[in-house]
Amino acid sequence: MKVLGIMGSPRVGGNSDILLDEALEGAGTVGAQVDKVILDRLKISGCHDCKKCNETGICIVKDDMQEIHKKILEADAIIHSCPVYFWTMPAQMKAYLDRWTALFDAEWRWHKNYYPRMKGKRIGLITVCGDPDVHTADPIVHSFKATADMTKLNWIGVVMASAMDKGEIGKNEKAKTEAFDLGKKIAG
Ligand SMILES: Cc1cc2nc3c(=O)[nH]c(=O)nc-3n(C[C@H](O)[C@H](O)[C@H](O)COP(=O)(O)O)c2cc1C
Repeated sequence: MKVLGIMGSPRVGGNSDILLDEALEGAGTVGAQVDKVILDRLKISGCHDCKKCNETGICIVKDDMQEIHKKILEADAIIHSCPVYFWTMPAQMKAYLDRWTALFDAEWRWHKNYYPRMKGKRIGLITVCGDPDVHTADPIVHSFKATADMTKLNWIGVVMASAMDKGEIGKNEKAKTEAFDLGKKIAG
C-alpha cells in the first residue's frame, strides 16, 4: 500500500504540514509506504485547456507535474492537505488540481491509459483555516469531494481544523488524532 501526501501550503512546518505528517504517520503504523510532495517547492503551472491530453493522456506543459502524475498513478491512496486562502484553496493546490485534467478524456472519464489504476483509488483531505468555524473550508471540501464523486474515487474522509499561527495546530490533540486516524483508515 502506497500513500501519497500532497502538501498545499507554502508554510512548510505549518499547520497543514503538521496534520499531513500525522496522517502519514498513521498510515505508516498499518504498514503503508508513504511519500510526501510539497507543492510550493515545485514548479507547477495551471492547466492551459489545450485539450491535447484528451487524446494522449500526456500534458504538454513540461514542469514538475509530470513527476507528480507518475506518483498519483503509482499511489493506492492520496491525502491532500491545505489551508484556506480567501475562502478557497491556495494557488499551489489549485494549479495542481487543475492539472489532473491530463488524467481524463474529453468526457471527463479516466483516460483509457489510466482507467484501471485510477478507479477506486482512495482519497482523503485535511483543511486548516484561521476562522474558528472549520466550515470556512467547505468550498475546498466540495472541490475534492465532487471530483471524487465524479470520477468514482474512493472518498475516505476529511479532517477540518482551525488554527491561525504557524505550528499552532500542534497543540490541538483532537485534530492531530483525527488526522492520524484518517491516515490509518486510508491505508487500512
Ligand atoms: C493569503 C492568505 C489568505 C487567508 N485566507 C483565509 C480565509 O479566507 N479564511 C480563513 O479562515 N483563514 C484564512 N487564512 C489563514 C490561514 O488559513 C491559516 O493561517 C492557516 O492556519 C494556515 O495554514 P498553514 O500553516 O498550513 O499554512 C489566510 C492566510 C493567508 C496567508
